Amino acid sequence: MAPKVLVSDKLSDTAVQIFRDRGIEVDFMPEVGKDKEKLQEIIGQYDGLAIRSATKVTAKLLEAADNLKVIGRAGIGVDNVDREAASKRGVIVMNTPFGNSITTAEHAIALMFAVARQIPEASASTHAGKWEKSRFMGVELTGKTLGVIGAGNIGSIVCDRARGLRMKVIAYDPFLSQEKADRMGVEKVELDELLKRADFITLHVPLTDQTRNILSRDNLEKTKKGVRIINCARGGLVDEAALADLLKSGHIGGAGIDVFETEPATENPLFNLPNVVCTPHLGAATTEAQENVALQVAEQMSDYLLTGA
Ligand code: MLT
Repeated sequence: MAPKVLVSDKLSDTAVQIFRDRGIEVDFMPEVGKDKEKLQEIIGQYDGLAIRSATKVTAKLLEAADNLKVIGRAGIGVDNVDREAASKRGVIVMNTPFGNSITTAEHAIALMFAVARQIPEASASTHAGKWEKSRFMGVELTGKTLGVIGAGNIGSIVCDRARGLRMKVIAYDPFLSQEKADRMGVEKVELDELLKRADFITLHVPLTDQTRNILSRDNLEKTKKGVRIINCARGGLVDEAALADLLKSGHIGGAGIDVFETEPATENPLFNLPNVVCTPHLGAATTEAQENVALQVAEQMSDYLLTGA
């Protein structure tokens, strides 16, 4: 009997086509990820579950997943999956660590420009017919120091693009070797040094027990006056209340925030502060990245379901 896969989040059609071409039966139900009861009711029928971020794979859901062998996350973060519960049941959890790296790195750079030149506020003001030419004085990126926290798949692309913009790039990443840092043309530094020197700080680490609150109130207070903070990685890495306080006091000059401690974020201490640019977790939201992750997850899951490899 052909293995059966449920796609429970919005995934590009490419994924469905690949599953079918590989001889896998597939149900495309992108709304079911948000409907916990329905998902609980039907999950037992499936060998594979393909998700993005809306489906929450809890221990309770896994208890009902009698036939489940593999969960494929079209994207990088697997924080919406209870991995411990999955591994206890022998269910493999796979992600697509490369498919959306460029897109996410580009979003970080876009937020950096948006904050440096106050583009969203200037745009809103111009749309309102105000022509406030002297209100929006920006800063150049050229010659500024960018502190990159996490120089893995996404962080290293950010380093490359920032060097192209003639920024001085310093990176904090305990896993970055000196050789790789030299090859990338970045200076490897400790966190305290990065906090002290950076004009812009961008985060590119997963949310783990080691990284949670890495930009705590204490650490934010150690930053250079006027620093601008960019977060396209995960909510929970930055103390949002402390960031809001330091933005209000003028110590921090601006922030570009794509991810929030609670998502969907409908209220947040950072909302409506001047020079805070917010986007609704759009880091991976390009046509190209969504095609890439859909294709990769469908191929990987099909390989596993058909050959166990
Ligand atoms: C990821 O982990 O791949 C990104 O945060 C993208 C997403 O969840 O949509």
